[in-house]
Amino acid sequence: MGKTIIISNRLPVQLQISNGGITAIPSVGGLATGMKSVHSGGDSLWIGWSGLTNEEIPEELEDEIDDALSKHGSSKVSLTEEEVEGFYFGFSNRTIWPLFHYFLEYSEFELDSWNTYKTVNKKFADAILEKADEDDTIWVHDYQLMLVPQMIREKRPNIAIGFFLHIPFPSYEIFRTLPWRKEVLEGLLGSDLIGFHIYDYERHFLSSVRRLLGLEVSFNDIYKGNRIIKVDSFPMGIDYKKFSEAAKKHGERSPEQHSELQQRLNKHKTSDPDAKFLLSIDRLDYSKGIAKRLYAFEYFLNKYPQYKEKVRLIILAVPSRSNVPQYQLLKREIDELVGRINGEFSTVSWTPIWYFYRSMPFENLIDLYTSSDIAWLTPLRDGMNLVAKEYIATRTDKTGVLILSEMAGSANEMNEALLINPNNFEQIADTIYEAINMPKEEQQHRNEQLQQRLRRYNVEKWAQSFMNSLLAQKERDAAHVSKKLTDHHLQIIMDAYGNAKKRVLFLDYDGTLTGFHNDPQKASPDDELYQLLDAIHQQEGTDMFLISGRDKDTFAKWFLSKKYNMIVEHGVWISKDGEDFKLLENVKNDWMENIRPVLESFVDRTPGSFIEEKNYSLAWHYRKTDPDFGNLRASELTTVLTSLIGTDDLSVLNGNKVMEVKSSNVNKGRASVRMLGENEYDFVFAIGDDWTDEFMFQELPDSAITVKVGRQKTQAAYFVENTLKVRELLKSFMNIAL
Ligand code: ADP
Ligand code: G6P
Repeated sequence: MGKTIIISNRLPVQLQISNGGITAIPSVGGLATGMKSVHSGGDSLWIGWSGLTNEEIPEELEDEIDDALSKHGSSKVSLTEEEVEGFYFGFSNRTIWPLFHYFLEYSEFELDSWNTYKTVNKKFADAILEKADEDDTIWVHDYQLMLVPQMIREKRPNIAIGFFLHIPFPSYEIFRTLPWRKEVLEGLLGSDLIGFHIYDYERHFLSSVRRLLGLEVSFNDIYKGNRIIKVDSFPMGIDYKKFSEAAKKHGERSPEQHSELQQRLNKHKTSDPDAKFLLSIDRLDYSKGIAKRLYAFEYFLNKYPQYKEKVRLIILAVPSRSNVPQYQLLKREIDELVGRINGEFSTVSWTPIWYFYRSMPFENLIDLYTSSDIAWLTPLRDGMNLVAKEYIATRTDKTGVLILSEMAGSANEMNEALLINPNNFEQIADTIYEAINMPKEEQQHRNEQLQQRLRRYNVEKWAQSFMNSLLAQKERDAAHVSKKLTDHHLQIIMDAYGNAKKRVLFLDYDGTLTGFHNDPQKASPDDELYQLLDAIHQQEGTDMFLISGRDKDTFAKWFLSKKYNMIVEHGVWISKDGEDFKLLENVKNDWMENIRPVLESFVDRTPGSFIEEKNYSLAWHYRKTDPDFGNLRASELTTVLTSLIGTDDLSVLNGNKVMEVKSSNVNKGRASVRMLGENEYDFVFAIGDDWTDEFMFQELPDSAITVKVGRQKTQAAYFVENTLKVRELLKSFMNIAL
């Protein structure tokens, strides 16, 4: 197995030039802090931006930069100032970041930034292509590099590519506002596996793929051309051991060994043992809800004045993206709010808010986590929020209360925390009150469970399960590809065809011989198809059956004069050599009176759907409906019908955007097998595209050559990609010299 190439905008360290030399400082943010632990343990190369623009780097420091990065297993992509402006400050952080965090009003749609984003993504892709071997695994990270997977795929069709989005994927209604929405989706779909923190983001993504690209999605598989892309959720964990051990060591230190910050915290604690610290740590970002948190704190102090002089809020805000105007405005707003609240409530011995605007060394983070009675995190929207997890990991004696916004991805797995809506000040004030007064045993009980989960599903497990899933997906794809009808297989089939004395072919119609139309009546055969079918029909020793779920009148109109053999309504009727249709199965249709009103009620409630009435079955078509809504209604209808038909002799078939109710003893498998009994066939062939054709694939003998159209799961021996390939196959049958 080859190496893993991690690629993200940020590297584990950021380089700075000071006093004519290079210094490397650790990067902040969930992606870098999380992946750092994964990277340090394995055989991987990390490619990213050094944090310096080309213009900032003097020529004589070039080598030093490469050396500094290679110490961290990293290699750089060089960016000019203009590229950083358009790609990083521009499209990444003025368009995608606000849009994906539901700050639609902050999103700017600038063509120039988009173009730079494309150019820079290409640079990253080229950097990978330069280093990647065929058996390597590429893991692309986050919203800055969404076009990279497809750019690599174009050059390396078989290499394993995974993508993980560290921020939310917004609902379709938000995502559709992006002018370059399709290009972004296409870019991501170059991956084999696309990961999100939680199921909600995954669901939003799948919905956008279905609606904007019209691709078929089955559970969490996306079918695109001859590839299957898997989408799944992997909630990112933390390096639990690193935090809990650092906290343990911290607890063992004598007061003299404490940091300056810790000594200041101790002093405050000893001066009033009842005093409580509330802690919040975030990058200074509008998505983190820092301003709302300050208003809520003010609200709390007014609602519960008994806590004045008792409770102190420590806010650690890390400078972030300060070239983006919204971040500058936010900085000003927070400065003012902190000033105003401190001005309003401070007393001689008490300042309600301690505000730090800077990055802190790891040791100080641990000081803050271990000294705070409550961690209070109120993002308005956050992909995951690792700070919440880090706080819990440092609570070695299991005390401490976490108050966490429901809008953070981590809230999904941290149910034992006190979850709040960051917009509900009343609820927040009461929750702070509850946290301050929570008995120690309850704190410990809650944290015990949280810690167990965080310890188990740590960042290493997260990375492992992503990687395992990526490799499994690659294997699955390879197994699937082995079913692909190749030229080699085709040759063997043709030889068997030519050598056989008596051949039978079962050909499904819609989705196989012809593509789908919104109106089934419009999918009439074209001239080319007639020519093909005529030629095969006239072959000596070949019996050709069109086998379809269609009604007999439509097929009679299209094919009766051609004298093709036809089996319709899934096997209810048969016509041979141009004779009128006869019943092949003894079926009843008196049940229709009861089922029709049910289907009609679904038509009324599902715009675009309609009923097709056949002699012995009823079909509800939903191809023209909104895809998500249609699927939802279809599963609702399955439940209703299953309970209605009970033990009756009826069954429900889920076809391609159609649900059909019909007698259970009728299906294409049974009908085709009956035909085999009528002759000594030594070549049996069946082809079809949907679920109803699977009956044939299952029931025909093992020696039969069965072919699925499309890449979905199948019992067939082979697959071809689309109806064009079906035509090519039939042409080969037509042209064979017999
Ligand atoms: P985001 O990725 O949006 O910044 P997360 O909460 O997921 O938010 O991750 C933040 C990461 O950055 C955490 O691992 C945290 O420890 C680290 N971090 C946050 N604040 C600081 C700081 N002041 N100094 C150093 N590291 C910080
Ligand atoms: C979030 C993003 C990361 C990003 C980090 C810090 O965690 O998901 O991709 O690196 O914030 O932001 P910055 O803009 O400084 O890289």
